Amino acid sequence: MNPIAIELNATLAGTMAGAAMSELGRRMYFPKGIISQAAEAKKEAYAVDATIGIATEKGSPMSLSAIRDALSGLVPGDIFPYAATAGLPKLREAWKKETLKKNPGLDGKSLSLPVVTTGLTHGIAILGDMFLNPGDAVVVPDLYWDNYGLIFSDRLGADLREYPLFDAKGGFNVDGLVEKLAVLRGKKAFLVLNFPNNPTGYSLKAAEAQRLAAALKAEADKGTQLIVVCDDAYFGLVYEEGVRSESLFSELADLHANLLAVKADAATKEELVWGLRVGFLSFAGKGLEPKHHDALVQKSMGFIRASISCSNTPGQALVLKGLESPSHDAEKALTYAAIKARYEETRRLVGAMKGPLKALPFNSGYFMTFASPAGKTEALRRLLLEEYGVGTISFMDKYLRVAYSSVDLDKLPTVFKAIDEAALRCCS
Ligand SMILES: Cc1ncc(COP(=O)(O)O)c(C=O)c1O
Repeated sequence: MNPIAIELNATLAGTMAGAAMSELGRRMYFPKGIISQAAEAKKEAYAVDATIGIATEKGSPMSLSAIRDALSGLVPGDIFPYAATAGLPKLREAWKKETLKKNPGLDGKSLSLPVVTTGLTHGIAILGDMFLNPGDAVVVPDLYWDNYGLIFSDRLGADLREYPLFDAKGGFNVDGLVEKLAVLRGKKAFLVLNFPNNPTGYSLKAAEAQRLAAALKAEADKGTQLIVVCDDAYFGLVYEEGVRSESLFSELADLHANLLAVKADAATKEELVWGLRVGFLSFAGKGLEPKHHDALVQKSMGFIRASISCSNTPGQALVLKGLESPSHDAEKALTYAAIKARYEETRRLVGAMKGPLKALPFNSGYFMTFASPAGKTEALRRLLLEEYGVGTISFMDKYLRVAYSSVDLDKLPTVFKAIDEAALRCCS
């Protein structure tokens, strides 16, 4: 059991609530991860907050006027009634159309209508509920979004099996993944692929994507039943030539009868609406027909009905209006260009750093991560917060994540200078 859960249980010991708690209730806790470190950064008088995965400009969240302006045009019917359990039908159609437009590799392939979830987190939790029994294996890289641990391991009792994300050459470690899958040969394997990756900001190069798809096909050929979740939270934020911007879901959608592909994505980052909480699940697999898609959609609806009943209506209405707006694509291109400029500046600044930190490979998304050969990144984080006014995220006392998406271009030099200096002081 997680030490924080043990502490909470000890606090509740002797109370009726503590005695009445379910096994799951006893296991549950709030991790000291990204969210609590970000909250700490907000409490300190900080100059720059590079903790949290949103895109900001001059201290405010970036947003599309296509969505902002739609707010005042919402009518009561867009706001107050319940939404259908699987989401507003027009939004589901519109998101599918967008998915097909942005992923030309899906051309001619069959996939379900997306199910609306309350953010991508909720979609991932539904997939866990649908496919994982306690003890089942979940294959993830060693650098993954920390909430996978809480969802799959702490909540569902699944067994996270990690492979090193990077190989010796700093590319995606296809062999490491295959090694973990080989242990599960002939059985069920649930894996999550997240590109652009949180926390590293790494996306597959075109050749790596091909190798990965071929490796998954080979495992499926050997009888392993693969459930592959493409966590596409940062879809579209790819900044280098030769790096794959399309979701791997396109390849997986009809790869093998032993492979179920699920695209878990969201308006959250794609439409810059972090707080609206609109996510989607789309299912595909070789040999799956519309009746199978529909059954998977209905299973998802069952999990929604049994937990939150349905997602909120105004968030969905706003995302739909944004997608339908004639200015949508041009506006999104501008926000992409702004984040790409920060990426390029980050690359330049990281390249000029002299201190002990080593940047892990990055080419996309919102973040980059440093590894500290001497560890001590929690002390580094605190030093940065307290003496330099810079909020970052440390994890495993070995890594420091920087969200350049939430730092204005002109502040990036200050951030990386502070990190370099502070690391020389505490991680040499
Ligand atoms: C990799 C990854 N997946 C999923 C999510 C969750 O997205 P949402 O806010 O839509 O629940 C995040 C959010 O930070 C993320 O980084």
